[in-house]
Amino acid sequence: METDRRNAQQPENTTAAFWDERYRDGRRFSGNPNGMLVAEAADLPPGRALDVGAGEGADARWLARRGWKVTALDVSGVALERARRDARDSEAPDVAGRVSWVRQDLTVSPPPAGVFDLVSAQYFPLHRSAGPGPSPALRGLLDAVAPGGTLLVVGHELTELVSRLHDVDPEDYDQPADVARMLDDGWEVLVDETRPRTAPAPPGSHHTHDTVLRARRR
Ligand SMILES: C[S@@+](CC[C@H](N)C(=O)[O-])C[C@H]1O[C@@H](n2cnc3c(N)ncnc32)[C@H](O)[C@@H]1O
Repeated sequence: METDRRNAQQPENTTAAFWDERYRDGRRFSGNPNGMLVAEAADLPPGRALDVGAGEGADARWLARRGWKVTALDVSGVALERARRDARDSEAPDVAGRVSWVRQDLTVSPPPAGVFDLVSAQYFPLHRSAGPGPSPALRGLLDAVAPGGTLLVVGHELTELVSRLHDVDPEDYDQPADVARMLDDGWEVLVDETRPRTAPAPPGSHHTHDTVLRARRR
């Protein structure tokens, strides 16, 4: 279990307080798994998966239904409580039992290294490191992938929306393409592209395209 340790410079949208309030608002995502996860992970044999920023758990449940043993990690206890309850109420016990809901702040402590056959980060706010190379949060994600495992990072395509995003500067975030550039030859990049979303974005968010990185650790 994660404590409330955080450093004073931590961006607000990576904190438990920020996300707990949003989820407490009653705000809900669609309840469906993300389209890019479905597109990219449907062909993978099940193993151990890490869903980073799992939110309300739709992706974790989809993976569990396909036989994956899932660690669903999120900083928000409110989201995880809702996700755990939804899984218990609507999934078969063996499916719900394949998901471990873990409250953890990725900017403070990394997930276990080298053990996950799939690490999926869907719309996770990956703030850019002050120096060159990956931020500690991104480093943790990369290190979590087992040899032969898959890294899937999906983001909103932000540049087309920049005039509408008064409070978001895309330059503050590592996009999937930035992550691709940081991968060394221990990785094979399979997908690094921008695609139309397969389902409408949450109301009010205006996103039309996703950016997708799929890479395999050699
Ligand atoms: C935009 S939401 C995406 C949720 C989910 N992946 C989805 O696609 O519906 C970002 C998620 O990342 C979580 N998050 C943000 N900062 C985090 C951090 N430092 N450590 C762990 N989770 C974090 C939030 O609580 C939130 O659930």
